[in-house]
Amino acid sequence: MSDAISAAYYRGDKTFTVEQTEPQAPGSGEVSIRVAYCGICGTDMHVYHGNMDARVGFERVIGHEMSGVVEAVGEGVDTVAPGQKVVVRPLDHCGQCPACRAGHTHICHKLKFLGLDSDGAMQEIWTVPAHTLHALPDDLRMDHAALIEPVAVACHDVRLSELRPGEDVVVIGGGPIGILVAMVARDAGGEVVISEVNPNRLAIAENLGFDTVNPARTDLAAEINARTGDKGADVVFEVSGTQPGVDAMTAVAGTRARIVMVAIHAQKPQIDLFQFFWRELRLIGARVYEPEDYEQAIAIVASGGVDADTVITDVSPLSEIQAAFEALDTSPTAMKSLIRVGEVA
Ligand SMILES: NC(=O)c1ccc[n+]([C@@H]2O[C@H](COP(=O)([O-])OP(=O)(O)OC[C@H]3O[C@@H](n4cnc5c(N)ncnc54)[C@H](O)[C@@H]3O)[C@@H](O)[C@H]2O)c1
Ligand SMILES: [Zn+2]
Ligand SMILES: [Zn+2]
Repeated sequence: MSDAISAAYYRGDKTFTVEQTEPQAPGSGEVSIRVAYCGICGTDMHVYHGNMDARVGFERVIGHEMSGVVEAVGEGVDTVAPGQKVVVRPLDHCGQCPACRAGHTHICHKLKFLGLDSDGAMQEIWTVPAHTLHALPDDLRMDHAALIEPVAVACHDVRLSELRPGEDVVVIGGGPIGILVAMVARDAGGEVVISEVNPNRLAIAENLGFDTVNPARTDLAAEINARTGDKGADVVFEVSGTQPGVDAMTAVAGTRARIVMVAIHAQKPQIDLFQFFWRELRLIGARVYEPEDYEQAIAIVASGGVDADTVITDVSPLSEIQAAFEALDTSPTAMKSLIRVGEVA
């Protein structure tokens, strides 16, 4: 483990530098992973835009949507061995706070997100706490496995929605997360309609076999009412992060519908509480994932339950990370961009 490795550092001002560095040896309870692929997430784009400089600084290796192979294990680690294909659930919790004590470690009051609050996966060797690992089946493609983290977000959202087979679902926002929520909801038996305003993303959603509505052209609530015999949606996922999306979520919701707030809104949106009263709606907050969501995400990706090849629109080597961020920032067609961090089959 003494050979120098390549690592991509965020240096501020929309800039990454790829540099040689010494890999961090695994300490007690830690595991070093040879990283195969790492996806670029919306949060990583926020870092690139400088919106998170105070949190991440200018010496940070970011990245958390990864796949890789265990390279070495530290003292006391007997849950995985070198050669095991793995993904990391990039959350570290304090174990002391009220959320942790209640068993909700994924929403720890002092939650540390690996790849933002500590170094992440845009480096050839990544060293993490062993408790964050999930083992992968040996025959799972490593590029597909890099989708497991966002698929786990979708699994958490759909699980908290308590979706039952045959229920009518509206996903507002067909970006990478919305598309994956739609796929997982369909996998769970939901009748899914995706609302999206970007024509390229509408086309991707249609290629994946989804019914779509462009709310800039069609009255979404009227369309959902027409499709459901005026019942409205049973489950709504707000994944657009916009005020029009929040307006739509209550407009399409039927009696006692469950609305899951997936998006992280930059501003406090206005919410139509009248609809909550008239229809006895429920609003469910959903943040990242729990271990069982990861296990479900692994099973879904391994079984082909998400069309990974359609969602992954670009793959670039680590040496081209700067160009990959620039392209994703401006491309109207990109959905999920992956960085090929190392040569792992
Ligand atoms: N809950 C969590 O733990 C969690 C995890 C990951 C991401 N997120 C959040 O989920 C959201 C979605 O992530 P993403 O990466 O897919 O983002 P994205 O910005 O790529 O996708 C949002 C999509 O909504 C569409 N949109 C905009 N206005 C719309 C409207 N009025 N109606 C319908 N669609 C509209 C956009 O065209 C875009 O395709 C973000 O807010 C992100 O921060 C939350
Ligand atoms: Zn992410
Ligand atoms: Zn805690």
